[in-house]
Amino acid sequence: MANWPRASPLVYVGLGVLIGICLSILSNPANTRFDDVTRYSRPDRLKAPGEDEHRHGHGNDPHEEEDVDDHHADFAPVQFHTNDTHHSHEGESIVADEIAKKVRVFCWILTGKQNHDKRAKHVKATWAKRCNKYVFMSSEADPELPSINLNISEGRDFLWAKTKGAFQYLYDHHLNDYDWFLKADDDTYVVMENLRFMLLAHSPEEPIHFGCKFKPFTKGGYHSGGAGYVLSRMALKKFITEALPNKTICSPNHGGAEDAEMGKCLERVGVKAGDSRDSEGQHRFMPFVPEHHLSPGHVDPKFWFWQYTYYPFDQGPTCCSDYAVSFHYVSANLMYVLEYLIYHLKPFGIDRVLRVDRDETILHAAYEAARNAQGKDDAFKDNPTQIPAR
Ligand SMILES: *[C@@H]1O[C@H](CO)[C@@H](O)[C@H](O)[C@H]1NC(C)=O
Ligand SMILES: *[C@@H]1O[C@H](CO)[C@@H](O)[C@H](O)[C@H]1NC(C)=O
Ligand SMILES: *[C@@H]1O[C@H](CO)[C@@H](O)[C@H](O)[C@H]1NC(C)=O
Repeated sequence: MANWPRASPLVYVGLGVLIGICLSILSNPANTRFDDVTRYSRPDRLKAPGEDEHRHGHGNDPHEEEDVDDHHADFAPVQFHTNDTHHSHEGESIVADEIAKKVRVFCWILTGKQNHDKRAKHVKATWAKRCNKYVFMSSEADPELPSINLNISEGRDFLWAKTKGAFQYLYDHHLNDYDWFLKADDDTYVVMENLRFMLLAHSPEEPIHFGCKFKPFTKGGYHSGGAGYVLSRMALKKFITEALPNKTICSPNHGGAEDAEMGKCLERVGVKAGDSRDSEGQHRFMPFVPEHHLSPGHVDPKFWFWQYTYYPFDQGPTCCSDYAVSFHYVSANLMYVLEYLIYHLKPFGIDRVLRVDRDETILHAAYEAARNAQGKDDAFKDNPTQIPAR
């Protein structure tokens, strides 16, 4: 030892740190990313010391954008059958079609040019067609999808800028032609009929928005971006005219978690975060894939989600409403599985018809059902302007 050259103690400290880093990389390959703070994933700031944020003990369902399996997703969009009227589903959607005329939803789907082929075209081939109108907000215009080039840089550092740009575009071009404005990701799957059913009990003139409610950063909650969130026409109007122009209300930056920023802006101009659960307290907007929510004991108690969820969220079959609206981290393949299970597979002999009295309109019967299914904590309940004529 005495023969070793003398070096500054700093060199030894440096060597020690290097060895430490190498050891930690070797012993835990899942933790080798150093960009945790800026990643578009929860938690944004609330991580407990030493907590592993991406894993909860099960590796087979996605909890990060990077986990969504896009391999082999560049296959051609799948059509279940080319002509709907030929098929045995004819006439099934009379009630849903009636509601779609009253509850008009414009959907915008956040994507990027690198995802047009792997994700956007599968969203288009599955649930997006049930929106009254939809557009993909991207960094490249493609009239086929259609997608709009927002002229904003790619990457999660610009998601908040994209969201602001997208809602500005909707306000400028579509405000008066639609009632509700849904934001979804290119790995969100949405059951549009159930979204409209929930919204039927509300007026688009209420300052309200719905989604999967998270607790931090706000008093009344904000909605997870990945599960999708929906703004009333009034909420969109207030966002663009009152919140966005004022830098103390809405962050003028391009970065930040877009959903939390959105929630803060909306709360500061009096837009309420509604209760999107159903009357049994079961959730309609799901921030993960069905397996994640439905398997009892699936999720580690230390997983970040438990600190974020605004309302209790059961694990197991009581997690999710029979009127579920959305799931997140859905790969292209799972989109088609959900599409098949929800819209095609039928348990023979089981009918789920809406009971409409002889002296009643379809819309009135549907409204009564929507009202009875409302979450107990919801805002603007029993809005008299919403009750359709009998
Ligand atoms: C679908 O089938 C119906 C009934 O045969 C036919 O009238 C209609 O033109 C077809 N539509 C398309 C798009 O092929
Ligand atoms: C993006 O820039 C192009 C070219 O200047 C323009 O035509 C287009 O309208 C812009 N998109 C938006 C959403 O402003
Ligand atoms: C911006 O919002 C703040 C907080 O609500 C308010 O005090 C201020 O007057 C607003 N500024 C403008 C220019 O409206």
